[in-house]
Amino acid sequence: MKKVQLTETVLRDANQSLMATRLPYADYEGILSEMDKAGYYSIECWGGATFDSCLRYLGEDPWERLRNLRKNLPNSRLQMLLRGQNLLGYKHYHDDVVEKFIELSIKNGIDVIRIFDALNDFRNIETALNATKKYATEKTIASGCISYTQSPVHTVDKYIEMCKELQKMGFDTICLKDMAGTMSPYEAEHLIKGIKDAIGDMTLILHTHCTTGMAYMTLTKAIESGIDVIDTATSCFSGGTSQPATESMFYALSQYGIDTGLNEDIINKVNDYFKPIKQKYIDNGQLNPKSLGTDAQALVYKVPGGMLSNMIANLTDMHAMDKFDDALAEIPKVRADLGYPPLVTPLSQMVGNQAVTNVLIGERYKNISKEVKNYIKGEYGIAPAPIDAELSKMVLGEDEPVDCRIEDQKRTGEEFTAAREALGDLCRSEEDVMSYICYPDQTLNFLKDRKAKEENEAIYTIEEM
Ligand code: CO
Repeated sequence: MKKVQLTETVLRDANQSLMATRLPYADYEGILSEMDKAGYYSIECWGGATFDSCLRYLGEDPWERLRNLRKNLPNSRLQMLLRGQNLLGYKHYHDDVVEKFIELSIKNGIDVIRIFDALNDFRNIETALNATKKYATEKTIASGCISYTQSPVHTVDKYIEMCKELQKMGFDTICLKDMAGTMSPYEAEHLIKGIKDAIGDMTLILHTHCTTGMAYMTLTKAIESGIDVIDTATSCFSGGTSQPATESMFYALSQYGIDTGLNEDIINKVNDYFKPIKQKYIDNGQLNPKSLGTDAQALVYKVPGGMLSNMIANLTDMHAMDKFDDALAEIPKVRADLGYPPLVTPLSQMVGNQAVTNVLIGERYKNISKEVKNYIKGEYGIAPAPIDAELSKMVLGEDEPVDCRIEDQKRTGEEFTAAREALGDLCRSEEDVMSYICYPDQTLNFLKDRKAKEENEAIYTIEEM
């Protein structure tokens, strides 16, 4: 019997895409024991923006959340998303910090680590892969993830090459990550057939979003073309900027006689549980119904929805909305000049802002942002295609792009020691140090609050005696 398995994303990506990752652990603890029996391939529940959101907004220790998830989902594969050498932050950390982070993630309960780099520069995911292998248990899966985008250089052949590279590096599975939801059914068919031919029986996963309205068609073609695992969200948290619905995909697959391993009663129970939670966040404004709609503009402009709304906000602030069409037309040109980076954080912001600047000044690259300069210098990794020679010369002069970044990563001890010292007696564990390294200000506030709470509790305890 043909088999396609499903990863449930409600706790991470659906939560992140629809309500800015503000779902507190307490809201879903009550359904975890049921979810544990659903038969998902994995439950995506940690990493991505959950870590930042715990510390910044929810007053939760992300590590404690992970340990609680582990305790209440003893039979499930717990999955996280990791930005390679950036971990869950926005800069390149040293190799020893990356290694320690992964050691602790596995120790606290993670099974599947999905690792990606915004530029698909696989040097940026190598340390994370090696650490995953080093600390792996028999349940650990290292998943190599490709940021999907469209451009003249992003051909089917190029993606097949990337997949072969990930296989050679030693990843256990491969995931295609279509963060903007722009992969069409036609593209999915050609891509997945080509990749499956090249990588044999290695597990291939498709992650997409409903943003542009194509996801169900794309998943259907992906299934016909041999995909092994798809990402879905329980139906009340599906659609819009989130994933396609778990129960609907289950229903469709069942009629084809494709085995998902899912328990129908339980996946329906999971949805029933989340319905009032969704309503609560619609009522308090944290879940904007706008994010549940379909926005096909990304297909026309090849610009993700979030990037478009950012640009409109910026131009409105500057009273320059009359330049909107010009700025929109400038985006693909800037992206081509920069060697067609995937438009994902932080590249989407960098490309968008540079396009706006070019149009507002009326002269291209008269003013180049610091981030774009660093990108051209090679600090983010290697661009998918060569950067425009003239632009490169404007930034580098006669210099060659020097890749000091990789050498820099090899320095060890410094980041960890400095973080531990900065925390002083607030620090209880290596996990605290890791939180601080990723989000210093938020972690400091969180740990100060934790200490204050404990001191209060200590006073109460004495009085009660
Ligand atoms: Co996603």
